[in-house]
Amino acid sequence: MKHLLPVTGLTRRSFLGSAAGGLLFQALPVTMRGASATLPPIDLVAAPAKVQLAPEGYPATRLWTFNGRAPGPVIRARQGDRLQAVATNHLGEATTIHFHGVRMPNAMDGVPHLTQPPIEPGESFLYDFELTDAGTFWYHPHANSAEQVGRGLHGALIVEEKTPPVVDRDLVWVLDDWRMTENAQLAAFGHPHDLSHAGRIGNTVTLNGRIAPPLRLRKAERVRLRLINAANARVFGLEFEGHRPWLIAIDGHPVSPQQIDGGQLAIAPGGRADLILDGTGDAAERHSVVDRYYPRGAYKLTDIIYEDGPGPRAEPLDPPEKLPDNPLPRPDVDGADTLQFALSGGAMGGMAGARLRGRHRDMRALAQAGMFWAINGVVQPGLDDSYGGEPLAVLQRGRSYRFVLRNESAFDHPIHLHGHSFLVLARNGVAQPEPAWHDTVLVRPRESAEIAFVADNPGDWMFHCHVLEHQHSGMMGFVRVTA
Ligand code: C2O
Ligand code: CU
Repeated sequence: MKHLLPVTGLTRRSFLGSAAGGLLFQALPVTMRGASATLPPIDLVAAPAKVQLAPEGYPATRLWTFNGRAPGPVIRARQGDRLQAVATNHLGEATTIHFHGVRMPNAMDGVPHLTQPPIEPGESFLYDFELTDAGTFWYHPHANSAEQVGRGLHGALIVEEKTPPVVDRDLVWVLDDWRMTENAQLAAFGHPHDLSHAGRIGNTVTLNGRIAPPLRLRKAERVRLRLINAANARVFGLEFEGHRPWLIAIDGHPVSPQQIDGGQLAIAPGGRADLILDGTGDAAERHSVVDRYYPRGAYKLTDIIYEDGPGPRAEPLDPPEKLPDNPLPRPDVDGADTLQFALSGGAMGGMAGARLRGRHRDMRALAQAGMFWAINGVVQPGLDDSYGGEPLAVLQRGRSYRFVLRNESAFDHPIHLHGHSFLVLARNGVAQPEPAWHDTVLVRPRESAEIAFVADNPGDWMFHCHVLEHQHSGMMGFVRVTA
């Protein structure tokens, strides 16, 4: 594997001059906006396209895209709207679209074989559902996900609050990570080392499809940053040098605003974070946003550059208030049934074997089948109609559940549940002072997380690792909520 486009190399100053600066965000169209309503259907066409991801001088990269761009179009709607999206498949293989984090009827969840037939090449499928929750969400295929998402199929879904907070600009930052060859093409997918280790960590990080496009700010300006981790495997651990942004939402759901004080904001694959960033610098100041999640792989994600001229106001705004809560049912934690989920496998994980298609196999046989991971000792292969296997758990509709997720492996697992959001109650047995709603929770090696939710949405819901190579090689399954 050649790494001719190392993340660190690409963030050098010489490449910054070519970025479009403030234009970047205008290049991502706002596809819809308006009062609560049924919105005009939007088209999402999955098709190959060439996109200039690498700096000028490198060739365009052959990707699979929605509507010819990567990331795909930003869909903007308002809480309570009804979204209709026509997915059309012009790929050479079947696909679907899953709207990650959106609580919706099971039939619209976009999981092939489990909730709908796959969309075959040349076919279309209408996704049609109401947007109950405000927040930052995203969409991506759920078929051959490691490759389809990894080749560029994903985009942001922004659901605005009925009364959004006062900001000067509302910006979406779709973070992605690509493994590129020296010709700026994507390296082959499905490498066994990626499956059995940390997933497909790339060598080129992009922000809205560009490398390190600077954020131009003015003094006392307030922007809302909606960060989405669309990478297959990379966890981001962002530090905003010279700034103290407020974290106001996780996975779309409000939290009491808290300042990231010189600390690191971790966003795992699938996860989102909304920040309020106040411009506290003076004209011509320049600060970096640095990703230090992997201690030996720190690099600069982008720069914050202060513009000349007067800002929008003389004094900075007051600290932000908490956003209005989404209508989520609060679990009865004391009365909840507790279920245990062991996350195991991978290199250095010590897993001896697991059940695959109803039979126990040792690790060697699993590896031969391209499988490396298990949830509660069961390996779930993807890509076919074998979801027909047993659910990991059957939940009574309306009941509260507490899941204890134990990571018995040597790698990070961001665990995602479809159709519901859950409170993260505790990590490693330590209660969280203010449990926050998530749809994806990062469980670090040898750690545990306790989550709780009301199983209020009937159907079969995927429950899987969002390191897409782990999902691909066994770390997935589904829970059934009875009708
Ligand atoms: Cu973001 Cu099961 O997906
Ligand atoms: Cu994982």
